[in-house]
Amino acid sequence: MALDSAPTALVSTNGLTKRFPVSGRGLFERQRWVHAVDNVSLKIFQGRTLALVGESGSGKTTLGQMIAGLLEPSGGSVEFGGVDLVNSKGEARRQLRRDLQFIFQDPFSSLNPRHTIRTILSRPFEVHTVLGRTAIDSEVTQLLNLVGLGNSATLLNRHPHQFSGGQRQRIVFARAIALRPRFIVADEPVSSLDMSVKAQLLTLLRTFQGELGLTYLFVTHELAVVRTIAQDVAVMYLGRVVERAPTTAVFDQPLHPYTVALLGATPLLDPVVARSRKHLPLVGPLPSSITPPSGCHFHTRCPFARDVCATKRPPLRALGERQIACHFVGDSDFPLTANLPRGLVETARASAESYAPASTSGLVTSAQLTSPTRSAVPDSGVQECVGNVGEQIRRDHDQRDEPEEAEN
Ligand SMILES: Nc1ncnc2c1ncn2[C@@H]1O[C@H](COP(=O)(O)OP(=O)(O)OP(=O)(O)O)[C@@H](O)[C@H]1O
Ligand code: SF4
Ligand SMILES: [Mg+2]
Repeated sequence: MALDSAPTALVSTNGLTKRFPVSGRGLFERQRWVHAVDNVSLKIFQGRTLALVGESGSGKTTLGQMIAGLLEPSGGSVEFGGVDLVNSKGEARRQLRRDLQFIFQDPFSSLNPRHTIRTILSRPFEVHTVLGRTAIDSEVTQLLNLVGLGNSATLLNRHPHQFSGGQRQRIVFARAIALRPRFIVADEPVSSLDMSVKAQLLTLLRTFQGELGLTYLFVTHELAVVRTIAQDVAVMYLGRVVERAPTTAVFDQPLHPYTVALLGATPLLDPVVARSRKHLPLVGPLPSSITPPSGCHFHTRCPFARDVCATKRPPLRALGERQIACHFVGDSDFPLTANLPRGLVETARASAESYAPASTSGLVTSAQLTSPTRSAVPDSGVQECVGNVGEQIRRDHDQRDEPEEAEN
C-alpha cells in the first residue's frame, strides 16, 4: 500500500506489553510472569474495523483492554488520535473517555441486574451531561430505537433479565453509542448468540459504523464473523501479532504458517473455498504464556521451522499490503510463497532488505495523524466513563437463571 494512499490511523500501539504476575510462588522462588501481550505495534485505521483473532489465551482481550484504556500496560504506549492514552490526564483523559467505549462479550455481567433499562441508559447522560430528566428520557428512547428495540415505555421499566440475550446485547450496544464515541473495542460481542441474532447484531454494528463514522477493534475467534465485519485482520499468537493484512488478502491467501493453520482448522461452508485452501495441521496445544518458546513463538508447532526460528524473533515486517512476522515468508523457496501474486515476492525481498523493527514499522507515522472526522449524527454532548466499564464485569450474576423472552 503506497504511503500517499494510506488511510489515517486513529489508534497506534507501540511496543505494547502486558505481563501478569503468577501467584503462589515460594519464598525463594523467582517471580514468574504470564506474558499476555508481548511488544505489539499495530495501527487501527479511521472508519475501519480491525478484527483480532487467535487461539484462546493468545492475548486478544488483554490487548483490547489496554487499547481501550481499561488495563494499564507493563510497557509500550497507545496513541489515540495523536494523544498518549496511557499518560493522559485531566481534560484530555475526559475526552478519551468520551471517544472510547468497550463492549464485553457477556451482556449478563455488563448490565446491572438490579437496574431498569431506563436507569442503565440514563446513567451516562446523568454523569456526564447537564441534561434534565425530559431530555434524558428523549435520548434514551432514541437510543432504544437506534438499536431496534422500539420505543415502548414499558421496555424502559424492565430489568435486564426480562430480555433475551440478543436484546440485552442491543442494550449494551445502545449504552456504548450513547456518547457518540469514535472508537469501540468489542470483545466477542456476538459469540454467545445464535446465528440469526448474530447476523442481525453484526448488521447493526455495521450500520453504526456507517452512520456514526465509528472505528472498531473487533475481538473474535470466529473467522466467519471476521469476513462479515472487518476490513483488516490481525492474527495473534502467544501475545504477539504474527500477521496483519486486509481481510480479503488473509482469506484468499494466508501467508504466515500460523494463519494458514488457523484458517485450515475452521470449518468452511463454501466447498469450493474449502477445497482450495491450504491445510496445515496445528499440532499440539498452545504453549504456556509463562514460558513461551524462544525466538519465533510458533517454532514448536511450525512445520517449516529452521534453526534460526528457535533463537531469533522474527520482526513484523512489511510484505506488500501486509505485515508478517516470519523469517521466511516471501522467500521464493518458502512453501507458502509459491502462489504469491506476481511482484509480491520481489516486494517481500525488498522489504526484508530494508528491515525495520516492529516498533517502527507501519503504514503511517504519528505525524500523519489528523483529527478524525466526527460523527454525522449530532453530538448530544453526552459521555460515559470508560473506567466505569471495568466495574461492570465485577457485578454479581445472581439473576442469570431468570426466564428469558425470545428475541423478536
Ligand atoms: N488478570 C490476569 N491475571 C493473570 N493472567 C491473566 C489475566 N488476564 C489474562 N491472563 C492470561 O493472559 C493470557 C492472555 O489472556 P487473554 O484473556 O487476553 O486471552 P484471549 O486471547 O482473550 O483468550 P480467549 O479467546 O479465551 O478470550 C492468558 O494466558 C491468560 O490466562
Ligand atoms: S519464523 Fe520460522 S517458526 Fe516462525 S513461522 Fe516462520 S518458519 Fe515458522
Ligand atoms: Mg478473550
